[in-house]
Amino acid sequence: MTDLSPDLPRDPRHDPVLREEVIAALAIAPGERHVDATFGAGGYTRAMLAAGAEVIACDRDPDAIAEGQALVQQAGGKLALIHGRFGEIDRLLAERGIDAVDGITFDIGVSSMQLDRDERGFSFQKDGPLDMRMAQDGESAADWLNRADEAEIADVLFHYGDERQSRRVARAIIAARPLTRTAELASVIRKALRHPPGAPKDPSTKSFQAIRIHINSELDELVAGLNAAERVLRPGGRLAVVSFHSTEDRIVKNFLRERSGGDAAGSRHRPAPTSQARAATFETPARKVRPGKEEEARNPRARSATLRSAVRTAAPAHSAQDKSGKEAMSC
Ligand SMILES: C[S@@+](CC[C@H](N)C(=O)[O-])C[C@H]1O[C@@H](n2cnc3c(N)ncnc32)[C@H](O)[C@@H]1O
Repeated sequence: MTDLSPDLPRDPRHDPVLREEVIAALAIAPGERHVDATFGAGGYTRAMLAAGAEVIACDRDPDAIAEGQALVQQAGGKLALIHGRFGEIDRLLAERGIDAVDGITFDIGVSSMQLDRDERGFSFQKDGPLDMRMAQDGESAADWLNRADEAEIADVLFHYGDERQSRRVARAIIAARPLTRTAELASVIRKALRHPPGAPKDPSTKSFQAIRIHINSELDELVAGLNAAERVLRPGGRLAVVSFHSTEDRIVKNFLRERSGGDAAGSRHRPAPTSQARAATFETPARKVRPGKEEEARNPRARSATLRSAVRTAAPAHSAQDKSGKEAMSC
């Protein structure tokens, strides 16, 4: 198992953001069973194995699962890789006869492997098909951009990308249709926002992020994943979530606040949630953790990362008592 040591040379594919902080929050005792809900290139999984955990890792991207098989071999029976969405992780675990785990970790967003491959169509810096599908099925970014109306596109850019000029960009996209390549889309956005060539910050970043979040229903998945985590964590089990976007972080923060009883009183503008009368399912969450200066300098992607973590109580899962996990949360 030497290959699983956290002291390996720093390969960005195996050097996930906030790795040490996540492992500290998980407080892994040897022999515990942990879920890595977003396997990617296996950076967290390696660190969990090195800490002595048995790991069940999941990813919706079939490439991540195929490329993880080498690690499965190395791990000598301590790692199982599952292809699927973390929003249904409790069902995926139940199919393997597992109904409770000691920890679950989410590293939300796109992997460097997905970003680096032109043919996946995630990056505005590379020319590839306008795809952006993590699971490699369903509607692609090109399919959606070529059929949606201006208001729908503008709403996605505004809400998921914080693009203040969303209407202007949406109008330019409609005028340039059909779009099939990432380079075409990036160029349309830059022109719409009058981006001077060579200027440091590329204005297509925000729209690419927004379209990716929409195509992969990432916010709905996050809510479903948090609810599923509540159902599968044993009392005392640990939840760790790393996110890269303010909307995602707000979802995690509100979920933990609500489930730890911190929002029980509601406010003048928002009535008390229906979970008010229910026992807290998470103990007071830890303060949010941000990367240090050294990590930010080493890995620019770390600059927007936030880790939130909490410990499961013994109270019954709110989401198991409601009709669906989504209804169980007001965020
Ligand atoms: C930021 S990367 C994770 C990187 C990983 N922590 C590592 O150390 O290499 C996110 C991964 O989660 C996967 N993913 C995103 N949403 C998912 C979902 N709803 N269900 C399962 N996997 C998902 C993506 O396909 C991607 O591989």
